[in-house]
Amino acid sequence: MNVVDLVRLFAESLDVGVLVTDAQLDWPGPRILYANPGFARMSGYEASEVIGLTPRLLQGQGTSREGTRQMQRALRTERRFLGCLQNYRKSGEAYLCEIDVRAIRRLDGEPEAFIAFEREVVRRRGRPTRGGAGRYRPVEATAAEAFLSERLSAFD
Ligand SMILES: Cc1cc2nc3c(=O)[nH]c(=O)nc-3n(C[C@H](O)[C@H](O)[C@H](O)COP(=O)(O)O)c2cc1C
Repeated sequence: MNVVDLVRLFAESLDVGVLVTDAQLDWPGPRILYANPGFARMSGYEASEVIGLTPRLLQGQGTSREGTRQMQRALRTERRFLGCLQNYRKSGEAYLCEIDVRAIRRLDGEPEAFIAFEREVVRRRGRPTRGGAGRYRPVEATAAEAFLSERLSAFD
């Protein structure tokens, strides 16, 4: 069974967007080998439209060049990247995306493929509660906005 068949077995039913690419980081790679329905719901692209293309198709005017440079560096050195980038849906609408990419390695340690877990970052109102399993404690709207913009700007 190859990597894509294996990933498909668990990723088809996940809410999180899942992309698998080949290990070739230089243009025209990395090429998308698999996209799950969660990715299609978030991006507006069907899997059949993006297979063979590069995830750079999600980039646009507002995508930070510094962010993509960091990603390139991290994927080359650590074979791992975790961060937020501005992505664009097929409709042209921008969305902030938390992207967690890891290498799927062969036995010799070299990457066979990369897998990304992608989530849209939704601005929630409030502060995360300690040990609250994802719950947010409501605070006054303006304070919540200030708190969030502070947090989100850490990714710029
Ligand atoms: C599995 C995987 C998923 C990726 N997903 C995205 C993405 O959602 N948005 C994005 O801007 N770049 C994404 N990339 C990064 C680009 O494909 C590319 O590697 C990045 O732009 C850095 O290369 P460049 O400096 O040549 O553009 C992804 C890369 C991999 C390997």
